Amino acid sequence: MTTAAQESPSVALMRLVNGYQVSQAIHVAAVLGIADHLIGGARRIEDLAQATATDSGALYRLLRALAAVDIFREEEDRVFALTPMAQCLGSDMNDPVGPWAAFIGRPYVRRAWDELLYSVQTGDSAFSHVHGTGVWAYRAQHPEEGALFDKAMTAISRQVCDAVVAAYDFAGVSRVVDVGGGEGALLAGILNANPALSGVLFELEQVAARATDRVAAMGLAARVEVVSGSFFEQVPAGDIHVLKGILHDWDDRAAADILRNCREAIAANGRLLVIERPIAPPNQGAEAKFSDLNMLVSPGGQERTQEQFAGLFGAAGFRLARLIATGTRMTIIEGEPIPP
Ligand SMILES: C[S@@+](CC[C@H](N)C(=O)[O-])C[C@H]1O[C@@H](n2cnc3c(N)ncnc32)[C@H](O)[C@@H]1O
Repeated sequence: MTTAAQESPSVALMRLVNGYQVSQAIHVAAVLGIADHLIGGARRIEDLAQATATDSGALYRLLRALAAVDIFREEEDRVFALTPMAQCLGSDMNDPVGPWAAFIGRPYVRRAWDELLYSVQTGDSAFSHVHGTGVWAYRAQHPEEGALFDKAMTAISRQVCDAVVAAYDFAGVSRVVDVGGGEGALLAGILNANPALSGVLFELEQVAARATDRVAAMGLAARVEVVSGSFFEQVPAGDIHVLKGILHDWDDRAAADILRNCREAIAANGRLLVIERPIAPPNQGAEAKFSDLNMLVSPGGQERTQEQFAGLFGAAGFRLARLIATGTRMTIIEGEPIPP
């Protein structure tokens, strides 16, 4: 295989231009659960096609293309095996990518990205333009899409959870509120590492209903109170408020409203932990900068620089105390309440 370093600029550009094809091919492999079918060992394409109810010729073309970019390995006689990247699509991984791949290629998500030009021309969410409603209302109206989104969030939270929990000292804390905490993956990680803590999982009604089952399945029903509501109205009281992947969904005005409600609810000596991907200096940090485009296109939010976080915190009665690197794509941005 030619490495990226050996490519001419035009070949490298062509590879990036066609990158959506790779993304969508991974999406289909994830939806079909190909990696799980290969956990027991390499299999012939006919077996895989039968197990996934697909056309063996077309499935072969999908998998040989993915094998050419190191996702699956093609052996002799149309036999396919896992590679390290393919393993990450498996459902038994600690840090799974499959649920994200299954979500990000959904037609309703792609339709918004098809209208990126609209977002760039107007500065507005293409998702709202295309679907006539925002992402959260859409997922409430389509619970099957909401459930897939929650699973994707859980998967990407699990990728960073241990590192985030290890990076912060929760000593002296008694009640953690995970604001918009999804299915509770991060809160579970915090509580498992800190047995004296109790937690509140605060979510929209439908997500809270699904999260209640997940919390029970994780054996945390006695330590986690699941509360449903909107963070634009009120946030439960606690001494640490965690917001992971929340502020980036919203513009500055809405984000400041959420933080003001946290400020109302937080203990005088409490701490705010915003967990996001700060925007890096020019020419670096592609992951956060493409996530920022995703925020523009879908919920209509944005990723932010450290200075932008400091401004947002100040507008809501918090002082940005420090940034804590976690060794992952996520940074903990700690805020402390400014006394009235
Ligand atoms: C990007 S997800 C992040 C989920 C979780 N914190 C994580 O990192 O895995 C944003 C979450 O905010 C929740 N949310 C959206 N609007 C909300 C509102 N008005 N009140 C409470 N939660 C809300 C969504 O249901 C969703 O779970």
